[in-house]
Amino acid sequence: MGIVSNGSLIALAFILFSLLHLAADIQTAALMVEKNKFSFDEGFNQTANGDYFVFLGKAAIGYGALQITPDTANDAYSLSNSSGRIMFIRPFRLWSDDSQASFNSTFVINIYRKENWTAGQGLAFLIAPNTSMPAASEMEWLGLTNEDTDGNNTNQIVAIEFDTQKQVYDPDDNHIGLDINSVKSNTSVSLDDHGIRLSPEKATNYSVWVDYNGTSKLMKVYMVKEGEPKPRIPLLNAPINLKEYVKEESYFGFAASTGYPNIQLNCVLKWSLWVEDLPEKRDLTWLKIGAGVGVPAVILLILLGVIYVNKRKRSSAVEESNVFDEHLKSLPGMPREFKYRDIKKATNNFHESMKLGEGGFGIVYRGILNLKDHINTHVTEIAVKQFVRDNIKSKDDFLAELTIIHRLRHRHLVRLVGWCYDEGKLLLLYDFMPNGSLDKHLYDASNRNTLNWERRCKILAGVASALHYLHNDYDQKVVHRDLKASNILLDSDYNARLGDFGLARALDNDRNSYAELGLGGVPGTMGYVAPECFHTGRATPESDVFGFGAVVLEVVCGRSPGIPIIYHQHKDCSLVDWVWMFHREGSIQEAVDERLSNNYVVDEAKRLLLLGLACSHPVASERPRTQAIYQIITGAMPHPHVPPFKPAFTWPLMGAPYSNTESTTSTTTVSSKVCSATNMESNIQMSSSISQSFKSLSTCSQ
Ligand SMILES: *[C@@H]1O[C@H](CO)[C@@H](O)[C@H](O)[C@H]1NC(C)=O
Ligand SMILES: *[C@@H]1O[C@H](CO)[C@@H](O)[C@H](O)[C@H]1NC(C)=O
Repeated sequence: MGIVSNGSLIALAFILFSLLHLAADIQTAALMVEKNKFSFDEGFNQTANGDYFVFLGKAAIGYGALQITPDTANDAYSLSNSSGRIMFIRPFRLWSDDSQASFNSTFVINIYRKENWTAGQGLAFLIAPNTSMPAASEMEWLGLTNEDTDGNNTNQIVAIEFDTQKQVYDPDDNHIGLDINSVKSNTSVSLDDHGIRLSPEKATNYSVWVDYNGTSKLMKVYMVKEGEPKPRIPLLNAPINLKEYVKEESYFGFAASTGYPNIQLNCVLKWSLWVEDLPEKRDLTWLKIGAGVGVPAVILLILLGVIYVNKRKRSSAVEESNVFDEHLKSLPGMPREFKYRDIKKATNNFHESMKLGEGGFGIVYRGILNLKDHINTHVTEIAVKQFVRDNIKSKDDFLAELTIIHRLRHRHLVRLVGWCYDEGKLLLLYDFMPNGSLDKHLYDASNRNTLNWERRCKILAGVASALHYLHNDYDQKVVHRDLKASNILLDSDYNARLGDFGLARALDNDRNSYAELGLGGVPGTMGYVAPECFHTGRATPESDVFGFGAVVLEVVCGRSPGIPIIYHQHKDCSLVDWVWMFHREGSIQEAVDERLSNNYVVDEAKRLLLLGLACSHPVASERPRTQAIYQIITGAMPHPHVPPFKPAFTWPLMGAPYSNTESTTSTTTVSSKVCSATNMESNIQMSSSISQSFKSLSTCSQ
């Protein structure tokens, strides 16, 4: 009995341990994959990033590394006489008619052998025309060629070999070489002279840089023990006109082989690649789609409106859903439609580990899509928004967001990739933003050093330009209505992309759900809402500007506008009042985020803080317009004048505070009416507690 329960306890503990281990693996396998670059900085994990690779021969992921040949370290027999390749799943464009792409790749390798093994044969960084491998490429063929294909220029391969076994054509058993269609290197360099042993007795990780310059057509290889800086002088520096040898679209990866009886493990522990983005070829499909965006968008709006009205009238749910579906599919200029089962696969069945965030209407998941056309497979990362309110509301939410975001195109807005209305599921697919949302970088301890001054300025300029586009540049004005740090997403270069257009419409179409929208319930939202909104229940371009002001102060001060600040003798003080106090005392730069220490530009910081205050003006009509905001941020215009004391907010307002209200409401369907049709009573009821807390936030130093 005792033995049995002990046994099952151990089993249970083991399962728990494995699960934890697995979870940890998924967490730490940080990666970035974009059109022309990727980075697997923290190792490899089959579950988390195995989908990005094609495995050939006996290659696999194991022990956090790419194992190009088998890694069963205790079974010498199966390690011998084998070969493999691991290729990144999609190709990169390496040349065009008149130019060649430069590329840089960095990786960490470990060619492991046990004390009593003699190392053999070698590992290679590989550029190949496809994701296949020749048969019988074990032994001296390094997974690159075989007896028949070696030297044949139809191979279209170029590789950097890390060779541990001497053949007649090799200088020794410890060299690197540039291989063109053959394992007989074009250029090779013995490593003995450089103090490097590829497979020393004591396992050693080496960092390798392979840099190709598409202009000078030089291939350079650098190699040092992991942790040491990249040396100034390359080990190998060879001229090669890649275009003569490799396919225009080529795959990158690794190949390796073991010998008999000589064996080794061929491990790649980290890998990143950047390939220069050559100018696009003219692609007619995109032109067609582009042309289809303007006029059809208007038709789309009308159609969606018709569907919406029809939907309300119809009693038969089935019929309704068919109509809904058909119309969506037939709309010109619509982004791509996806099948539910593909999205399910991409998100690992909407697994918890893929969850990126959660909002009022939906849950957002990360997804990895394999897009196959007739030749290639492309891997794209996406963010999938799943609408989770009840059926009717979800459909409304889905339609509203789709209607708004679908017609907007701007480099600082998150791009809609596609949609799915299938098996009763409603999903919107967006570009995945590898750096997550702005708030994470401002407040998460693990991201604390990512936002230097330059990035902060760039982010604010990006958001300002997105806002300007929404308010002015598009023929129908859109009010975002939910501007806050958590809705500002960052791409891999820390460019801001405004996201989440979900809130605007719900206030319009779903009057009773005001409370559900999280306006009062989410404390983080508090400091972003303009005071007049609590009275009018209506969002305007000016209230968006107020929200933007809060974001500016937040980014410069590194403090959340929703969290009161306790400062000396003052009571709880809102961020705006706190900054205003410094302004009055002539020391506004004291509000700058102390984590920046002195690493910021004082004039820029002052200008941004004054801009933040000007946008936070309690009187809507006094706030700057987006045009001016953008120019102030970029320094094309001087900072705005800000009075030493914050003007009081009074209600009802005198004069005409809303400049564009009329045209806004009349030209935009769902998005800009926003709160205007909302039931005023429930609004005011709902918001009284909010205004109260807002007031308590505004008392400081007045
Ligand atoms: C290695 O394996 C191949 C089959 O893949 C076989 O033909 C060859 O004889 C083997 N060589 C040795 C030395 O075992
Ligand atoms: C090179 O490979 C091609 C295609 O596999 C083949 O047709 C050709 O005969 C080969 N050339 C030589 C010299 O072996």
